[in-house]
Amino acid sequence: MISFQLIAFIFAFVAPLVSAEPPLFVCKDESCDTSKAVMDLPPSQTALVAPAIAPLFVLLGVGVQNYTCSGTTFASIGAVASFFDISCLAGTSKFDTIQNTTFKVWGRVPSSVPSTAIGALVGAPYLDGVFPLLRHPSSGTSISPKWDFTSTGKFAGNSTAFVIGVKVGDILASTNPAADIDWLRLARVEGDLASHVFRVDTVGGQPPTSCVSGSPPISVKYTSKYYLF
Ligand SMILES: *[C@@H]1O[C@H](CO)[C@@H](O)[C@H](O)[C@H]1NC(C)=O
Ligand SMILES: *[C@@H]1O[C@H](CO)[C@@H](O)[C@H](O)[C@H]1NC(C)=O
Ligand SMILES: *[C@@H]1O[C@H](CO)[C@@H](O)[C@H](O)[C@H]1NC(C)=O
Repeated sequence: MISFQLIAFIFAFVAPLVSAEPPLFVCKDESCDTSKAVMDLPPSQTALVAPAIAPLFVLLGVGVQNYTCSGTTFASIGAVASFFDISCLAGTSKFDTIQNTTFKVWGRVPSSVPSTAIGALVGAPYLDGVFPLLRHPSSGTSISPKWDFTSTGKFAGNSTAFVIGVKVGDILASTNPAADIDWLRLARVEGDLASHVFRVDTVGGQPPTSCVSGSPPISVKYTSKYYLF
């Protein structure tokens, strides 16, 4: 259901953006050549090294990172995001900055506007909104994200179209690490969707540097690209 706030928001902020240029992108072909989708990883580090193959697909993630106040600092307790298939944008200038373009809208909408609504503005096919963080036996004490595309989008009904990943590499965002969450490499522990997932080109998502003990959990908006190999 489209809320009054969403309509008001579209008129106030989105309409001027959209009327300035044609819709960002409409992906008609679901089997795009992803060889032009090359991650822009910082040099002089080995934590995140791109595989020597083209990604299976590239997703735009639009969501929140959740934190709880533990002592006087925030600790991650989960995340939830909507994913949009932007593979067919690879090689265009819009691909390079889509996380910024989207964050400009996502960062401003009232919290009642769901991340799924933002994707309609982006114009890329919606894959799924499921992104729980789980405790998997292979993750030890940490929590593992699950990309689950079994129920919506082009993989709907395919029970193997998910991947649970454990973090195997982590670097500070090469943009503004105080505001933008880390870039990650995750390896599959379960599922057939991909064997590796990279989270890069993050915008937002970092919690404040400190908190007052006992304060409630917070959600911090972010966007990023996810490369699945
Ligand atoms: C994150 O917080 C939002 C509220 O901002 C909540 O709707 C969502 O269920 C939380 N998800 C996880 C996985 O923590
Ligand atoms: C189901 O999804 C997996 C990826 O998780 C894919 O490799 C496989 O080809 C899909 N099967 C069908 C019948 O589409
Ligand atoms: C995109 O967002 C990043 C992260 O906040 C920022 O460092 C960068 O300058 C932005 N790029 C553009 C073109 O706006």
